[in-house]
Amino acid sequence: MTDQYSADRYCVIGNPIAHSKSPEIHAAFAATSGQDLVYERCLAPLDGFAGTVRRLVAEGYRGANVTVPFKLEAAAIATRLSARARLAGAVNTLRFEGGEIVGDNTDGPGLVADIVRNAGVALAGKRVLLLGAGGAARGIVLPFLEQGPAAIVIANRTRATADALVEQFAAHASHPGQVSAVGMDAIEGVFDVVVNATSASLAADMPPVPAASFGPDTLAVDIMYGKEPSQFMEFAALHGAAVRDGLGMLVEQAAEAFALWRGVRPATMPVLVQLRSSL
Ligand code: ATR
Repeated sequence: MTDQYSADRYCVIGNPIAHSKSPEIHAAFAATSGQDLVYERCLAPLDGFAGTVRRLVAEGYRGANVTVPFKLEAAAIATRLSARARLAGAVNTLRFEGGEIVGDNTDGPGLVADIVRNAGVALAGKRVLLLGAGGAARGIVLPFLEQGPAAIVIANRTRATADALVEQFAAHASHPGQVSAVGMDAIEGVFDVVVNATSASLAADMPPVPAASFGPDTLAVDIMYGKEPSQFMEFAALHGAAVRDGLGMLVEQAAEAFALWRGVRPATMPVLVQLRSSL
């Protein structure tokens, strides 16, 4: 039984926050892994993120997830950052321990876990097309590089932002040219994995990726999710690709955070199935 007063407390901080699925995901993880914890939603004022974190620490919370629009601010207030959070410039997971606020980022590792474990597609040796060069894309590059792909081509509407990402991550490449940038209009060849990390799907739009990027052996992943497939997913499927939305990434980033806090990686598949049916 979870005891509201003695169990370790966690929450997800955002604004807005009512829509967040994190409480149900973590409650399911806690139940299946036998962990005694409470996980709540926490609405922070738009100008009050730091104050909210200070209150949580004072009240004895053990950690928190951070979502829109506070991921950059969370990186700024952390007293310690993991290497991947520092490179992402963003934090989605905080641990409060020994007077420190430790920031980490499990979004990229969550996407890798969804592709490698859930979709069964290894990234080692593969050609990856990463669409977008904003905050979401930045968090994906290092976890992808760690899988040893042959190439990661970053394509962005604003080419200069993609160039800046390549410059930032070149030192982490295992061979010259492993990470490169192109404009959306200069994408060439077919890819094994195409990730839509732009925010275009939020506006029912899609980046102008060529049909020839997709083939029968391509996995196309949109990091957004919804009841219906995004325009990007429909386009990729039309041109022969297998497609996934971002629901698996959502569950896997939560599992990575849960593992950081509790030292146990929970089973994710039942939670993913349950969430899918409730969309
Ligand atoms: P996020 O944190 O979701 O990544 P962001 O940092 O604002 O948000 O980045 C949004 C990304 O989506 C950018 O790469 C943006 O391209 P630009 O750098 O050219 O702005 C991309 N994006 C948003 N809408 C898009 C659209 N309709 N077509 C193509 N790219 C789009």
